[in-house]
Amino acid sequence: MVRHTGDSYDDKAQRYAETIDTKPFTVFYERPAFMSLLPPLNDLHVLDVGCGTGWYAEYLVEQGAAVTAFDLNREFVALTDDRVGGRVDVRQADLADGLPFVGDGTIDLVIAPLVMHYLREWRPAFEEFRRVLKPDGLFVFSTHHPYTDLGLSKTGNYFGVELLEDEWDVGPVRFFRRPLTDMCTDLSAAGFVIERLLEPTPVAEFEVVDSATYDRLMERPMRLMIRARAE
Ligand SMILES: C[S@@+](CC[C@H](N)C(=O)[O-])C[C@H]1O[C@@H](n2cnc3c(N)ncnc32)[C@H](O)[C@@H]1O
Repeated sequence: MVRHTGDSYDDKAQRYAETIDTKPFTVFYERPAFMSLLPPLNDLHVLDVGCGTGWYAEYLVEQGAAVTAFDLNREFVALTDDRVGGRVDVRQADLADGLPFVGDGTIDLVIAPLVMHYLREWRPAFEEFRRVLKPDGLFVFSTHHPYTDLGLSKTGNYFGVELLEDEWDVGPVRFFRRPLTDMCTDLSAAGFVIERLLEPTPVAEFEVVDSATYDRLMERPMRLMIRARAE
């Protein structure tokens, strides 16, 4: 059985890196919403899960955090290393294998921007985040909105967990869709309490550069973001 679809990014990292930091969707939608869920970062030890090109790792360090970052894909690890090497502990690791390189209760904040949907099973990963977090530590993640991704489903069953494929500008990408109920149940079972749930809307600047996408996002969310606290 497929445990994750992280190989979707094989040979795509360079192409992904060329546009991701400047795309209006990233700059005026995904990242401002995600950052609105982050606490003050100074002096926190942050685990950056699926660090990609290292944009968050760099931001976190610039805000005074100590950062451990990892990604499945060697090319992404190299890109993050090029960007923040020396200032961040960057590793290659598979989230589906747990976090054997992180000690119990050593992390203040775990971030997983746009990573979880590449995993079939979320609860074991959530349990690992809970294990490495200090008491009252925070876990913040963003993922595809489960209702929006239903449009790609062959079954049309909202309550199912389903492997989907979509064609993006970087090529075909596979990921899992699951209902909001499953996300909340797995968070709770792993020992988290949801503090904030966000279905983001874009910031006003998006309308200036792409009014059609702006209008669509004002009516139909494409992301779901959650901030949860370790109980
Ligand atoms: C859409 S990118 C997001 C990158 C970054 N978090 C950001 O928001 O800019 C998804 C990232 O998750 C990584 N990834 C996917 N499956 C993974 C796994 N099983 N373990 C670790 N990283 C994984 C991919 O290699 C890729 O870098």
